[in-house]
Amino acid sequence: MANKKNINDFIRMKKDGEQVSWVTAYDFPMASFAEQAGLDMILVGDSLGMVVLGYEGTNPVTMEDCLSHCQAVRRGAPKTWIVGDMPFMSYQVSDADAVSNAGRFIKEAGTDCIKLEGGERIASRIKAITNAGILVIGHIGLTPQSSGQLGGFKAQGRDVKNARALIKDALAVQEAGAYALLVEAVPPEVTAFIAKKLDIPVYSIGAGPADGQLLICGDMLGLFQAFTPKFVKKYANVAEIETNAFKEYVQDVKTGRFPTDDYVYHVLEPMEDFEAMFKEFK
Ligand code: KIV
Repeated sequence: MANKKNINDFIRMKKDGEQVSWVTAYDFPMASFAEQAGLDMILVGDSLGMVVLGYEGTNPVTMEDCLSHCQAVRRGAPKTWIVGDMPFMSYQVSDADAVSNAGRFIKEAGTDCIKLEGGERIASRIKAITNAGILVIGHIGLTPQSSGQLGGFKAQGRDVKNARALIKDALAVQEAGAYALLVEAVPPEVTAFIAKKLDIPVYSIGAGPADGQLLICGDMLGLFQAFTPKFVKKYANVAEIETNAFKEYVQDVKTGRFPTDDYVYHVLEPMEDFEAMFKEFK
């Protein structure tokens, strides 16, 4: 397996036009499959709230949720670059909160960097976290934690005014010291402009070509059932596979087809000895 990538690899990849592939993962098995498949990075997104915890949005997710899922992912993918996602209210209140919570991802969960949502308005947080020696990925466009203000999970930057604001956000994130930027659900023309304008790597989720692509594992694997964004390419239908497997198991149990002799442990001593022992209990 290739060595774990570091920030220099990601900077070089942008320079060489080499695409970065990343997905979200939230637990040990998913992380180990992602590592075996050769993903460059894994995001332990606060989307875990929707994909694995069953919330309607990401805002109920806590620092403790994020840290414990990051720890599991780190154990599953020890040689992959892991991004911890800062949950709602872990960085919005103050620079000091932002730094200490970002530090917990690195110290307690072993992530390589953190991601937070927002542009100009959280530039001081990015600066403070970066000054603490922690690598930051910015996230602009459709930012789920502020989806209420955006009027829902809606594409951004589709008119000139909004696109101008996004470009200003992108520049502010770079200026504040982020080492990379994630752009979500933005027209490809706007993303391409941002990716060209910025020196740092610009990654896309639902925002067309850039320096790399991210998808949410629950979407691309067909695990998340509530809705599928337009930008998702489904590579599997795991929900169907799991449901069918459970159905078959139910039938096997009800009809006695499971367990057969292949699935039991046989005794290691003569059966007569067991029969004699059973009699002691009669
Ligand atoms: O939490 C997450 O998975 C994210 C993506 C939507 C980019 O932040």
